[in-house]
Amino acid sequence: MAQESRPLFAGALSAILPPFLQDVSELREIPDNQEVFAHTSTDQSIIVELLEYQEGVSDSEAARYHFEDVASSNDAEGQSEVLSVEPLPLAQLTLTDCTNAWLLTGHQLVAKFNEEARNTVNIHMALFRLPQHTTDLLVTFNDPAAINPSSSSAVGGASLAPPSPWTYEDFSRLLCSLQLHNSSIFG
Ligand SMILES: *[C@@H]1O[C@H](CO)[C@@H](O)[C@H](O)[C@H]1NC(C)=O
Repeated sequence: MAQESRPLFAGALSAILPPFLQDVSELREIPDNQEVFAHTSTDQSIIVELLEYQEGVSDSEAARYHFEDVASSNDAEGQSEVLSVEPLPLAQLTLTDCTNAWLLTGHQLVAKFNEEARNTVNIHMALFRLPQHTTDLLVTFNDPAAINPSSSSAVGGASLAPPSPWTYEDFSRLLCSLQLHNSSIFG
């Protein structure tokens, strides 16, 4: 099955994205430094973001730093856990500009729309460090473990088989196909 790379950030980057993908910028305002995609029929999402390079944070600690930053903005502090952080072998990547890359696995308890019910969200996060562009490039796959029945996300009654959820393989394919075409994006 041939899969084509799709442009990100107006073509400055590209990657193979999974099927059943909704570009969230068509639904609501997204900051310029982010590309946000939602699965059309699950609560899964993928975020590609260009962040300021964290000079004071060592390479091995940087993925954890960004994970905790996301946790605090999700109000999931103290309810998030890092399960593993591993180096991503550069030989597997097409993004050859990064000095090193990391893969973090963890989870967070996240409330939707200030509801009391909290959903466990499994998180796979890849960090590509680009110090020459003063950028930490972060790709996050949010994969809710289960839908809490009292949450507004638990909409029942679908009679047709829904599109298949994204898998870790989809995420991995995205990471390994990520390419940089125009470094002016970092300027
Ligand atoms: C790179 O991006 C800049 C800024 O968006 C643009 O002006 C320039 O034409 C682009 N270069 C190429 C080769 O596409």
